[in-house]
Amino acid sequence: MTAKAKLLSDYRSPEFTIDQIDLTIELEPQATRVTSVMQVRRQGRHNNPLVLEGEQLQLQSVAIDGRMLDATGYSQTDTHLTIAEVGDAFELNIVVMINPQANTSLEGLYLSDGAFCTQCEAEGFRKITYYLDRPDVLARFTTTIIGDASQFPFMLSNGNQVAKQQLDDGRTAVTWQDPFPKPCYLFALVAGDFDLLEDSFQTMSGRHVTLQLFVDKGNLDRADYAMASLKNAMAWDEQVYGLEYDLDIYMVVAVDFFNMGAMENKGLNVFNSKYVLANARSATDQDFNGIESVIGHEYFHNWTGNRVTCRDWFQLSLKEGLTVFRDQCFSEDMTGSAVNRIDDVAIIRSHQFAEDAGPMAHPIRPQSVIEMNNFYTVTVYNKGAEVIRMMHTLLGADGFRRGMDLYFERHDGQAVTCDDFVQAMEDANAFDLSRFRTWYQQAGTPEVSVTDHYNAETQTYTLNFSQQTPATADQSDKTATHIPLRIGLYDDTGAAIPLNTEAKLTDGNVYSLLTESASVTFDHVKTAPTPALLKGFSAPIKLNYQYSDVQLLTLAQHCEDGFTRWDAIQSLLARYIWQIADGETSTLPQNIIDGVLAIASDGEIEAALKARLLQLPTVNGLVNQRQQIDIHPLLNALDVIREQLASALYDCCLALYQQLQQPDYQLDAESIAKRSLSASCLGWIAAANPPAADQLCVALYNNSDNMTEQLNALTIANRFDLASRNSLMDQFEQRWQDDGLVMDKWLNLQGCWNSEQCFGNLAKVEGKPFFKLTNPNRARSLIAGFSAMNYRYFHAQDGSGYQWLAEKIQNLNSINPQIAARLINPLTQWRKFTAPQADQMKAQLEQIYQLSDLSKDLQEIVGKSLG
Ligand code: PHE
Ligand code: ZN
Repeated sequence: MTAKAKLLSDYRSPEFTIDQIDLTIELEPQATRVTSVMQVRRQGRHNNPLVLEGEQLQLQSVAIDGRMLDATGYSQTDTHLTIAEVGDAFELNIVVMINPQANTSLEGLYLSDGAFCTQCEAEGFRKITYYLDRPDVLARFTTTIIGDASQFPFMLSNGNQVAKQQLDDGRTAVTWQDPFPKPCYLFALVAGDFDLLEDSFQTMSGRHVTLQLFVDKGNLDRADYAMASLKNAMAWDEQVYGLEYDLDIYMVVAVDFFNMGAMENKGLNVFNSKYVLANARSATDQDFNGIESVIGHEYFHNWTGNRVTCRDWFQLSLKEGLTVFRDQCFSEDMTGSAVNRIDDVAIIRSHQFAEDAGPMAHPIRPQSVIEMNNFYTVTVYNKGAEVIRMMHTLLGADGFRRGMDLYFERHDGQAVTCDDFVQAMEDANAFDLSRFRTWYQQAGTPEVSVTDHYNAETQTYTLNFSQQTPATADQSDKTATHIPLRIGLYDDTGAAIPLNTEAKLTDGNVYSLLTESASVTFDHVKTAPTPALLKGFSAPIKLNYQYSDVQLLTLAQHCEDGFTRWDAIQSLLARYIWQIADGETSTLPQNIIDGVLAIASDGEIEAALKARLLQLPTVNGLVNQRQQIDIHPLLNALDVIREQLASALYDCCLALYQQLQQPDYQLDAESIAKRSLSASCLGWIAAANPPAADQLCVALYNNSDNMTEQLNALTIANRFDLASRNSLMDQFEQRWQDDGLVMDKWLNLQGCWNSEQCFGNLAKVEGKPFFKLTNPNRARSLIAGFSAMNYRYFHAQDGSGYQWLAEKIQNLNSINPQIAARLINPLTQWRKFTAPQADQMKAQLEQIYQLSDLSKDLQEIVGKSLG
């Protein structure tokens, strides 16, 4: 059966709503009984039947107002239950049976290592019972969980626990009540045996909130950081937005089987254990960062997502773009560092630009969807956050806060649209955002081209802008959008030139480009300046300006904006990487090598920023700069540049590396920054002198007691295939083989091992007892490690890399369609590559498309990629 697309333009408000639902769930791994009693009301005047969503349910009975319906009273399909004759307001009672143990999709009710847990966003509730499974139906939930308390000491659901009793048959019944009406995608149930970390938080109005963190037995020593992050997030939302938590209890459960990062279910967040469990021995600095941001993200959803939710799934960015923006700001404030911005931009450039240029291109508010799970994308999330950030840039922090206040004043308790959000921002500030709304309608990465003219006589400097958005797979016609450009001008010494202009600049130096072309003239400019045109990455666009090498070096060395410095070096290096790939030159000019060396040896640059400034452009980022890529010459060019820079940087990096060693592990920003720079130095040392690096890696691995440094050693040994690589990998496996979460790091390294033995090795690794295709973290670590990071072998000349990935996808198609649809991404980019790669990739996609049981998820993605 081919799946059909749903359109935003077909949205209709619901014909019925549900005010109250009382759920009783009797837990049994293969036969769980779900009884739901719903108070249903007709909306508006019509005589249409009641149509409920439901999938993989075994219907037991249907009753209305206490009266059982016989089979003539309703009709059933694989996806729906239709009840023809219903009144205007009635009680509907439905009993179904479900099989959680057979549920490997991890959507609906399933078992994670013996614990029951649910995942309902986006459309998983329909796998639990028949319901109006759409976010604009908001009901009060009461949930009674019945099970064996010795097996499941904790039986949890949303809201407050209101009853607990022992039943005659020995089972225990626990009842939860959530006072806030909510859409069913925010429903959650967890039952299992856990260790519990408890704490509390006093809100700004003085209310006491109990905080509970549930982790697998034996993991209490890895729960503290998540708890501390939660308290920081609660305080931050009060300080920055005046938003307080609204229930008496906030629970977080960490589970090992989870498709995504985490889920913001009301009062009961379910987390991928990767984003909860960490201590210095088992987790890296990066893992700690991830925990802080995901804990923050889910907490912030309580207002941006739960209190105000989405009218329909096309509006997903209403909650996700906004909440990612909020968690990004939270992390920036916690670390107080400019490099967060650089890392966020790197994600946009490496991944989002690819999505915008590929077969799945969609606006941050998509207009057409076959499988909603396919739209939890870097576009909806991260570009969505950039769009919110642009409003913040245009309105300023105070104006943005006014808009947020108005948004909550108007919409608390409602299911609304992205337009409602923009309207609140506009109304609270009397700021015209009409052109800005294009960002919600249009896919693709706008390109801004800039030329300039300096008039020495009048001491004026003119910038001429033009914007254009290339056609995308989903839309051919594009219009001009509202692009905020944060501008700076610099003289030859790198000193900032004050901006004097008649053009309107908001927030001091932000120019709004609103039309296809426009010019701005600056006065009192004494010498021809170097412009910075996208400071802080003020818009998610590509900017074209013909910088000279010297201008880029000036920005790299002197600009006060960390992003601009990083961007300047990235541009310089990319320029020569392409020239080498195209055979136009074979080396990097000496003045650039000197410039990079000057940065490496500059004692004034903080360590975290220096580590970023010494990064090479990523392969993905480079691939996104051109229409079509001949991948192997590009990879070779990167190697050439790396070697050249490495030999110049060697002495400096060796000295820095030694200076940066720390006696013990501290988790403050400065210690983290030092470790990150030290890893970057170790990489340059390895590129210049493998034997020297090998010794350092072995020493670091053996002398360090923390995962960050040990993994740095292992990563470099693996990337440069140093002599000690295999023995270090074995050592790591011996130590951690029983710890899946830690072994993910090892699996990822095996995936991206840049070695001729890589294919034989993959087969060996797949046979390891800790590798399970049914566990998304395990599957992703190895599979994406290979297909998204091991460029040389994924793109092997004989196509064997593509074939390996295609085999995994075929297996995952029936196990977990959502994960299959994510991991297939590298193949769907086939049009970006020249022959023979493109043809080989396409052939694999065609085979997958022929599968008889192809999931809706893959149908949509593979179909679009081939279409
Ligand atoms: N809503 C979750 C988040 O962004 C993501 C998610 C989506 C989790 C779908 C599970 C399933 O916080
Ligand atoms: Zn989210």
